[in-house]
Order: sequence, then structure tokens, then C-alpha cells
Amino acid sequence: MHPILTIAVKAARRAGNIITRASQDVGALKIQSKTYNDFVTEVDRAAEREIIETLRDAYPDHGFIGEESGTSNLESDNIWIIDPLDGTTNFLHGFPQYCISIALQQNGVLTQAVVYDPNRNDLFTATRGRGAYLNDKRIRVTSRPKLQDSIIGTGFPFRDFQHLDTYLAMFKDMIKKTAGLRRPGSAALDLAYVAAGWYDGFWEIGLSKWDIAAGALLVQEAGGIVGDFEGNDSWLETGNIVAGNPKVFSQMLQTLAPHLTDALRSKIAEKIVHTDTAEQTDTEE
Ligand code: IPD
Ligand code: CA
Ligand code: CA
Repeated sequence: MHPILTIAVKAARRAGNIITRASQDVGALKIQSKTYNDFVTEVDRAAEREIIETLRDAYPDHGFIGEESGTSNLESDNIWIIDPLDGTTNFLHGFPQYCISIALQQNGVLTQAVVYDPNRNDLFTATRGRGAYLNDKRIRVTSRPKLQDSIIGTGFPFRDFQHLDTYLAMFKDMIKKTAGLRRPGSAALDLAYVAAGWYDGFWEIGLSKWDIAAGALLVQEAGGIVGDFEGNDSWLETGNIVAGNPKVFSQMLQTLAPHLTDALRSKIAEKIVHTDTAEQTDTEE
């Protein structure tokens, strides 16, 4: 295992211990609502602290984007992107589908990924160029050629309903064109399942970087494709993501295409404008 990945795995397992201990008495947790249907507990925060401390001990110069603690040292060439508990709603209900997601981005390229499911002790890892693994076994996306025979994972809108009608139209079409849809409730695990060949594909609207950074590298290293709804590269910025084996990926794009609104297109131009503005602001400061 790549030495950097070894440290990330150590961080994920430590966070897993915190989460598993807390899962034995979720009733005792203090729950806060960040926005509508967006909850956070002291477990999310403690797990993120543990992950960052472990990584920072090994790599004091690295930067961080954490769901709970925000950003630090973004000037660094090495940025860790962390979701300490992906699937908090499941966790709070005792539904055993949640994970820890940790990715490393080096000079803008995702290079290391860990998705750890503490309930099943499933450790999904990838290093760019070296393949994806579940525990010690190499994993690959499926080779199923037809969307019609495929199982596809997804996530329903449940906090922000601006794209609900669009999503439901996509959903209706996908239901008819696949062997079935699944919504277990943790996007990072959904992507890991595409990498492991347990689903043939996955799509969701408006995710955050920390939901998808690690899972997407797993899919790519397992031979799959990740894109936004037009098959372009804006998925990490927009959170509009499609992933799948190469054949199913393109059939998913065709199925989604008639439903795309302007807001869900790649927005590559806007992204460039946005980056320019951000750089100007940095320099002005
Ligand atoms: C959520 C999960 C869920 C997805 C949501 C995410 P959280 O993450 O990944 O599957 O549908 O959009 O926000 O809030 O539990 O870390
Ligand atoms: Ca998440
Ligand atoms: Ca989370």
C-alpha cells in the first residue's frame, strides 16, 4: 500500500472506532440541525478531528477541506477532502449504512482514496494508477453492457428541493430503463459499490466535494467513468455526478440528457469565470 494511503487508512479506522462506539447509544447524542434535514452530532465533529489530527501529525504542511471544520491551508499542493461520517441520517436512525470518506488531491488531481464502512469492516482504497481494492482484493466495475440489465444507485433530494421535479423526471425514465434503482443513503458508499461491481452505475444531483472525491477515484481506478451530467469534468465542482462502467455510463447520460435544465449543464464557462474571480480576490487580499 502507498505510504500516504496507509496514514489515511489509519485515520479512517480511528474515526470508525469513534463512530461505532457512539452507534451503541445514538439516543444519548446531542443533535444539531445545520439547515433543513441536515444534522450534525458531536460524533461527526469528533471523527473529523481525529482524522485531521492523524493526517496533520504525518503531514503538517498539508491543507484540508472538511465537512465539519471547513478549510485550512488551501495554498498547499496537497489537500485532504474529508467526510467524517457520510450517511449521518442513517446513523442517527440506526440504519447501518454510513462510512468515512477521505481523499487526497495533489496539485488539483485526486491521488488517494479511502472509503471505510465500519459496520461491515469494508475498506475500499485506491491510489491513482495503482487500481482500486476492497480490503486486500482488487475490484473492478462490472462489464454489463446494457443499462436495461443494470442496477443503478442514486440519491433522492431531501434537503434542497430546487431540482426535485427534474430529478423525478430522471428517476421515472431510469426506472423504466434499468433492472432497478437503489438508494441506501451514503453517496461515498454508493460510488464504492460501483467500483466493486455491486451496482453498474450511480447518479445524484448537487453533492459536495467530500461526498464524492474518494468514491470517484475508486470508480476510475476500478475501470469506470465519472462525469457530470454531460459527461464532462465539472462533477467535483458542481456535485452533479454520473458514474458507471463505460457502457452503462454513456447510456445513463443519454437517459438523463432530455431532462437537463441549464442549471444542471456542465457550467464549464462559469467555472472558469468563478476561478478567475476567486484568484483576483486572493491577490487583492
Ligand atoms: C449525504 C449522503 C446522502 C446524499 C446526501 C449527502 P451526509 O451525506 O451522502 O447519500 O444523498 O446528498 O449529503 O450529510 O450524510 O454526510
Ligand atoms: Ca456526505
Ligand atoms: Ca457527513
